[in-house]
Amino acid sequence: MSTKTELLALLKENLGTPVSGQQAADRLGVSRNAVWKAVSHLKEEGYPIESRTKAGYCLTALPDILSQEEVERGVTADIDVVVEDVVTSTNDLVKEAEWTGRPVVVIANRQTGGRGRLGRKFESPGGTGVYISFGMKPEFSIAHSPFVTMAAAVAVCRAIRKVVGIDVDIKWVNDLYYNRKKVCGILTEAQTNIENGVIDKLILGIGINCFPGSFPEDIAHKAGSLADHAGAFSRSALAAEIINEVCSIMDDVESRTFLEEYRRRCFILGEQIFVHPLSSSSEIPARALSIEDDGGLLVEYLDGENAGLRKVLRTGEISIRLYDQENIPRR
Ligand code: ATP
Ligand code: BTN
Repeated sequence: MSTKTELLALLKENLGTPVSGQQAADRLGVSRNAVWKAVSHLKEEGYPIESRTKAGYCLTALPDILSQEEVERGVTADIDVVVEDVVTSTNDLVKEAEWTGRPVVVIANRQTGGRGRLGRKFESPGGTGVYISFGMKPEFSIAHSPFVTMAAAVAVCRAIRKVVGIDVDIKWVNDLYYNRKKVCGILTEAQTNIENGVIDKLILGIGINCFPGSFPEDIAHKAGSLADHAGAFSRSALAAEIINEVCSIMDDVESRTFLEEYRRRCFILGEQIFVHPLSSSSEIPARALSIEDDGGLLVEYLDGENAGLRKVLRTGEISIRLYDQENIPRR
């Protein structure tokens, strides 16, 4: 463990009470200068540490800071972890990074160019969310890739259950909702060898609204968060658990053993929804019935000439809107 990590643990033990430089140096077995350097680094990372004359260093509050050390401490999977403050898009960073073949995960506190499906913008404010992208070379073939997003959705639900203590719901295919608001989006991209259908690099991006953030008006009615105040849980701990769960569930992509849990968590089944074909501006009222073994969504159309018609929808062709959200007036 680094001096900085050990010092942070010591200051946390003494939250609100100063620890002298000498005490810290003795406890950590380092020089007072090394303690001073570690304090400077922690301050740069955003920890509120006061240097009080004759008393020592005092951590005055526990902010929720995404930290490389804290994430690494919680990760049990064999993967390289990089934590950044601000990036354009963690998916782009992973995509462009030189590829050693070892799995890698990039985590950011804020994104300036966060992307969703179909090139849509994913709002990624700092301090309130966590933005995570994996770069992996999976063993399975491209035919299994549609299940990566579904597996990741289940993995993130499990991690949230463990760290935050709540159950979130899945909106087919790539979104997680809490209290009927979107709290997470997942974007899977792949670089494949078209000659042999082998995936050279799989990029799996996950964006989560942890605490209330500042969102533009057009999505304010549909974007929610996992907790109602900053610091309610540790974003680093959540990121670490997501890494563990995602790495573990990737072994199940071929067997699809997570599909039952995916179905159980998918809250739109049985509900009325609107289907928006990407090829037109129409919206078709339908009832979501089930998730097929191949990952498609079986719906029954409710109105007009298609009433009663059943169809299996594929994610690349359509967008789904919730019935109640569609009826919220947009100013
Ligand atoms: P569907 O996948 O059925 O098309 P969707 O409307 O959620 O559903 P996605 O492509 O999954 O579409 O997600 C992108 C959309 O998510 C954006 O168009 C925007 O409406 C919304 N969005 C963007 N940033 C956030 C955020 N941080 N939290 C919640 N929602 C967001
Ligand atoms: C969606 O809602 O359509 C998917 C959103 C995916 C957002 C995540 S945040 C981490 C990674 N980086 C990105 O630019 N996008 C994904």
